[in-house]
Amino acid sequence: MTASRQDAGAEEVTLTATAWQQLQGLATLGRVAGGVLHELNNLLTVIGGYSELLLQRGSAPRRAELEAVLRAAQQAAALARQLLACGRGQPRQAVNLNRLIADFSRLLQALLGEAISLETCLAPDLGEVCGDPAALAQVLLNLVRNACDAMPEGGRLAIHTANADFAEVATEAPQRGPAVKLAVADTGCGMDAAVQAQLFTPFFSTKAHGTGLGLTLVAQIVRQHRGLLAVRSAPGQGTTVTVYLPRAAPDAASSPAPQAAPLPRGAGRILLVEDDAEVRQLVRAVLQRQGYTVLAAGSASEALRLAQEQPVDVLLADVVLPQLSGPTLAACLRARHPDLKVLLISGYPPGVLAQRYGAAVAEAVLAKPFTPEALLRQVHALLGAG
Ligand SMILES: Nc1ncnc2c1ncn2[C@@H]1O[C@H](COP(=O)(O)OP(=O)(O)O)[C@@H](O)[C@H]1O
Ligand SMILES: [Mg+2]
Repeated sequence: MTASRQDAGAEEVTLTATAWQQLQGLATLGRVAGGVLHELNNLLTVIGGYSELLLQRGSAPRRAELEAVLRAAQQAAALARQLLACGRGQPRQAVNLNRLIADFSRLLQALLGEAISLETCLAPDLGEVCGDPAALAQVLLNLVRNACDAMPEGGRLAIHTANADFAEVATEAPQRGPAVKLAVADTGCGMDAAVQAQLFTPFFSTKAHGTGLGLTLVAQIVRQHRGLLAVRSAPGQGTTVTVYLPRAAPDAASSPAPQAAPLPRGAGRILLVEDDAEVRQLVRAVLQRQGYTVLAAGSASEALRLAQEQPVDVLLADVVLPQLSGPTLAACLRARHPDLKVLLISGYPPGVLAQRYGAAVAEAVLAKPFTPEALLRQVHALLGAG
């Protein structure tokens, strides 16, 4: 049905040059992503954290909208992880693409606006795929966003799911066997061959304000799920992008994660050291609501002073601080208070942290961006253990 990436028919020389360009693009992407990730994680922690706090108040007005904000923040956090992980596997679970589409229907409607009508045709017996739901949602959202961009005057967007087989895509495809397909079709401007050849090149965009990263990410996520992508398009004829993912065997479908027990109220004194004022305020609010006493400091020197004035049970410190790093501060305070528990907040993957500062520096590490729930669980586990 389609012209897949495999049979784009490029000569070997062209292919090699394109592959080289893509590699260079990806290296740049990695550097850019690494550089902004710290800031991005702080912002996402704040956006997600306050949305959750408001939702927990029970009577939050505009609940649905707030839930959409929270979901978007979680998506963005997953995206940031994806950019950094680049190839490292994410935890996999059984995902039903129909449910994913339903979960995002509100956000999709908002993307579409009024001039674009949405048609969905979802197979009721759709098989599940084994994957990372946040990453798969990124695929859906990026394809829908591109479809909308292609229809500035309005049009029709069709989202279609069905059970399929990899044999449909290309006979020489490395993947075989049952698949699930997700097709996103638009009645927009379509693409000529030149644009189609560049589609997956990082930073390739024909839009005034495009990033050119949407389809790069889509292709990366699909590849990580051992799937295939097919694009059918012609100028003025609209575009259909179809994603094929391996169908999970029915008994591989896991039951949803069990609900964790609610946390008891906390007690204890926590010395919080975080230079980002927004994150500091959020963490303080979350801990205080749960019953903890919080001494908050914006720098290591302020923290040292506070620790001299009163006893603390837990040091909760960002790894990257202006004068003295979190791990160095922890070592200083531990020399005087050997019973002090240390929880570090870090944007680095745990392996990098242990390599740089040694494994013994902290009892636990909280990865950014984190949810209020994850923060409270870590703090509770530390104090409970002691
Ligand atoms: N549904 C579509 N219809 C027409 N053109 C598309 C469509 N999807 C992608 N494209 C083309 O591919 C380019 C790259 O897309 P993408 O990687 O998502 O980056 P961006 O959307 O930021 O431009 C777009 O700029 C556009 O030219
Ligand atoms: Mg895009």
